[in-house]
Amino acid sequence: MFPTHRPRRLRTHPQLRRMVRETVLTTNDLIYPLFAVPGERIANEVKSMAGVYQLSIDKIVEEAKEVYDLGIPAIILFGIPENKDIDATGAWHDCGIVQKATAAVKKAVPNLIVINDTCLCEYTSHGHCGYLQTGDLTGRVLNDPTLELLKKTAVAQAQAGADIIAPSGMMDGFVQAIRAGLDEAGFQDIPIMSYAAKYASAYYGPFRDAADSTPQFGDRRTYQMDPGNSREAIKEIELDIAEGADMLMVKPALAYMDIIWQVKQASNLPVAAYNVSGEYSMVKAAAANGWIDEERVVMETLTGFKRAGADLILTYHAKDAARWL
Ligand code: PBG
Ligand code: ZN
Repeated sequence: MFPTHRPRRLRTHPQLRRMVRETVLTTNDLIYPLFAVPGERIANEVKSMAGVYQLSIDKIVEEAKEVYDLGIPAIILFGIPENKDIDATGAWHDCGIVQKATAAVKKAVPNLIVINDTCLCEYTSHGHCGYLQTGDLTGRVLNDPTLELLKKTAVAQAQAGADIIAPSGMMDGFVQAIRAGLDEAGFQDIPIMSYAAKYASAYYGPFRDAADSTPQFGDRRTYQMDPGNSREAIKEIELDIAEGADMLMVKPALAYMDIIWQVKQASNLPVAAYNVSGEYSMVKAAAANGWIDEERVVMETLTGFKRAGADLILTYHAKDAARWL
């Protein structure tokens, strides 16, 4: 007549719910992205990303201290260079904006882990993630010449003091190339967090405002993955593991929870999920309109990433989440 099983019994009291909770988000899981620009005392809010700023290095350092004081273990740095060119000089130059920001943060907050995103799109005149022939308007990125530039970039980032290198360009052989470059330069102990499964996504729109990295022509579909594919994601992570990746990333996160889960099952490496700009902007816009409860939606979403298998979460909500925790 009546139910013999009553799962509701374990939900009757907040303490009881706490005791049987399977997945718990902690501040240790969070990585906060920051955007460095040349200049001093600059904080330009990114229009499409409320609460996210392009910051000059002095401001990046202040921000890094705040992040560290909140207990967040790591930041990931992106850079907007003074000049862009066909060779992405700003990416691999000793005086590149990310190299300078990294050195400044490591000096001021030595115990904060500084991750460097390794890609060329913020530094190329055409906005693609790799090298292409001058005047080529098809946007056909040349894989192996790009690897040479990325290798130099990773080494310059390590020399500046980066603790972790995060290759994000989706070039074939990327991890192998930078592992070799880092090892040759004496950085055998710098781990690689590979953007192993990175999809060609419309959710990156606001980031491209923030990083000023929209391709001038064409799109990224010849190097980033097709959203319909999941077995291909496993192929990509297997290659990256074989090439020497220490951590794997899935990006974006929200529409790719099944990929996070599959990557977790398919490897023994830590898995990171990138809660990308468009995911952030949607929440901020709805919250600004009073349509959702921002804190609850953010915490539920971040917990969902963990439940799906993410060990680490790169998110623009990191500072807020740390405060709410
Ligand atoms: C490019 C890069 C992208 C992001 C970080 N590095 C995507 C792209 O422009 O294709 C996206 C991050 C975000 O949307 O928050 N290498
Ligand atoms: Zn790129």
